[in-house]
Parts: sequence; structure tokens; C-alpha cells
Amino acid sequence: MSTGHGAIPKLSGDIRPLIPKLGLRNYWYPAIADTNVGTRKPLKVALLGEEICLFRGVTGGVVAIQDVCPHRGARLSEGVCHYRGTVACPYHGWVYDESGKNVAVLSEGPDSGVCGKPGTEAHVYPTRTLKGVVFVWIGDAEPAPIEQDVPEEFFDADALVQVGQVYWKCNWEVALENSMDSHVNYVHRNAVVVARAGFIARGAQGEHPLYVGNGFGGDVSESNYMRRSPRQDLYPNGWKWPKTNYRRFFTWLTKPLAERARRNIPPPRSARWCGGHHLPGMFRAEFGWDLYTRMCVPVEEHLTRVWYYHCTRPKNGARRLWDRLMYATLRRWIIEYNFSRQDEAVMLNQRYDTPEKLSGTDAEVIQWRKLVVTRHYGGRDAPFDYRNPDGLAPDAVPLERVSVRYLQEQARVRGRR
Ligand code: FES
Ligand SMILES: [Fe+2]
Repeated sequence: MSTGHGAIPKLSGDIRPLIPKLGLRNYWYPAIADTNVGTRKPLKVALLGEEICLFRGVTGGVVAIQDVCPHRGARLSEGVCHYRGTVACPYHGWVYDESGKNVAVLSEGPDSGVCGKPGTEAHVYPTRTLKGVVFVWIGDAEPAPIEQDVPEEFFDADALVQVGQVYWKCNWEVALENSMDSHVNYVHRNAVVVARAGFIARGAQGEHPLYVGNGFGGDVSESNYMRRSPRQDLYPNGWKWPKTNYRRFFTWLTKPLAERARRNIPPPRSARWCGGHHLPGMFRAEFGWDLYTRMCVPVEEHLTRVWYYHCTRPKNGARRLWDRLMYATLRRWIIEYNFSRQDEAVMLNQRYDTPEKLSGTDAEVIQWRKLVVTRHYGGRDAPFDYRNPDGLAPDAVPLERVSVRYLQEQARVRGRR
């Protein structure tokens, strides 16, 4: 079945206008944390321009149903779950079960002539709950295997995935392009997580992205861990960047801790889920204390719900508790607010409709746009024309090419021998 929107346009020049403003359809998206859905009152969530009502089915699983009542358009999410596994519309009491069937009309009684007639059924979205996150299939095609769209750690019993959510008042694609370019060490130079690990004057990385089938990873050899940039840059006119070196005193104290914390970051298990961009709207990084994902879910054209998935692999129960405690008290604030609000501040007023002059360090962003446009027009299985360095096939990219943490772990194992 084709899941696209017609012929794939030419992918040259400025293709930003071809990027769908409300995201790619026919993919799995996170909708809500399972614990937010109660048994008495339904909930509303909006994504990709869809309005969805959530309630609990007979066996407790979360059901996603269209939020507009087929009768006369009232909101099911404003109704009540009178009977187990159903939701009743607040207006005339049409009751829907978890298959979307209209099973009662409370304002007309058991003999209602319209109840269950063709046209009374509501659309139900396929859902799947993983690690406490309810994922919803958005699209008209048959759902694809969810493993293709949701990071590998969600299917791994040993992985701890902690989840956070923030809203950014910008388009999803603008939100997503805020990664794998040279901005990090500049924009975030005073963020706690960056300052503690020492200052790197340049942030450039990802000039030669590697295509891994569902997105791109950055070549390890171009990362700041392998290719040290100067601590301070000197310009011919005498300018220095950073302007002073005071922070080195601070870093001298904190850097050993930061490096220790990095050892807590689990490398991805497969190159397909390496750091970088991944469909339908993720950016992943080995960063801070965990392998983290920013999943940018379009809500409206200028509103994005950013989900954070923080993955660790605690060795035991105590460590698991520690990771939870640290995320709840400190790390959530450090990453989702202190660090990420700096991005949001820039993106809020960033223009996306004026001419651009791109740099070599924007290479990954350029390829990512091409991939999004290809999949929007050609569907989720459309072939993507990209030649990897060294002629590597997308599913043959070795982990050591795209994961610094994997390399570090290998070195540690070798050191022990
Ligand atoms: S509009 Fe929903 S029952 Fe009438
Ligand atoms: Fe950033």
C-alpha cells in the first residue's frame, strides 16, 4: 500500500516549503504517559492535527478514539466513562466501546433507533503501550511494525527509560533541526551540563552523515571526542573565543565527575538507533548521563510537544533507584529546562521562510530534509538516494562508526584484558 502523497519532487535547492508542516503520517507517535489516563474521565491529546480522546478499555489498555462525536460533533474527551471500557459523549450520551462501536444512546433509551446504525461508529487509532508510554499509529495505512519507529530500548527489558515532556512554540521541523550542527557549544556555552564538562570552542560535527536506514548518524571521527578543537580560538585581529578562560578553574573540579557520568551512558545496541536524526521526528544523543532522545511531535504548525526518552541500563536495583532519583530531582531540570530552553529561546523567533546560506556543518540538516520530503511524498518505504562514505550500505554501518560510547566501552574491555 502506498503511504505517500504523490511523486517525489526534485530534491535540490531550498526544499523547506516541501516539508509537511504537521509532520509525517503513517508512523507511530508517542501520545501520552499511560499513568495520565484514568478510568472515570477521558482525556484529550492533539498531534499532527488530529484530535484524539483517550480512555481505558475493558482490560485496562489505553484506547485512542476520534475526539469528535459522530452524532453532532461534541467532544468525547469532555464526556464520562460510565461503563467499563466505554466513553459516553457529554451531549446526548452516545456511548462508544473500544472498537469505536456505538453501543448505547443514553438520552434515547435501550430502544434507540439510531444506536449502532452505519455511520455511528467512531474511528479508533491503533495503540501500543511500551515502558509506560502510549504510542499511537497516525495514518490511513495499515500500521507498520512499531519496532521500526520506536527506539530499541523500549523493547529491552533491562533498559530503564525515563520520560519527560516539554512544549516548544515552534514548528516540529525547526525544533528537530536544532541538532547535529555547530550550535551546541555556542548556544549552550553556559548551560550546566556543558559548562561542567569543559569548554570546547567549536561545535562543528556531522559534516559527513551516515545514513542508517531510518535517519542519520554522525561519523565518530568527526565528533568532538575524537577531534579535539582548541580550547581557545585566536582570530587574526586578536579576538579570542572564548573571551576568557576563567571557566577552566570550575571545569578542573567538575570534569572528572562529568567523565565518570559519561560511563553511565549506554551505547545504542544497533547503528540504526545511533545518535543523530531518526524518523519520524527524533534526535538522539549520547549526552550527559544517558542515551537520550528528543522526539518532536507536531501539535500545531507552531507548537511542538518534545518528548524526552532517557535511557540507562542500571546494573542493579539500587542503581536503578539512583537513576530515577537523579532524573526526578536534578537531571530533568538540567537537560529539559536549563539546556533546552536555550534552544527554544533561539527558535521562537527564528525565521524559516527567508533565504539561507548554509555551511558545511549543516550537512546533516540538509540530508535530513531530503529524507523527510522523500518519505512524505513517496511514503514510508520510498527508497532514499544517498551514498554513504566508504560505500556502506545503510544496514551495514558498523556501530563503531557512529557511537563514541561504543568505542569507549570497547577500549575499556581491551584495557582490562
Ligand atoms: S453530539 Fe455526541 S451524543 Fe450528540
Ligand atoms: Fe541545542
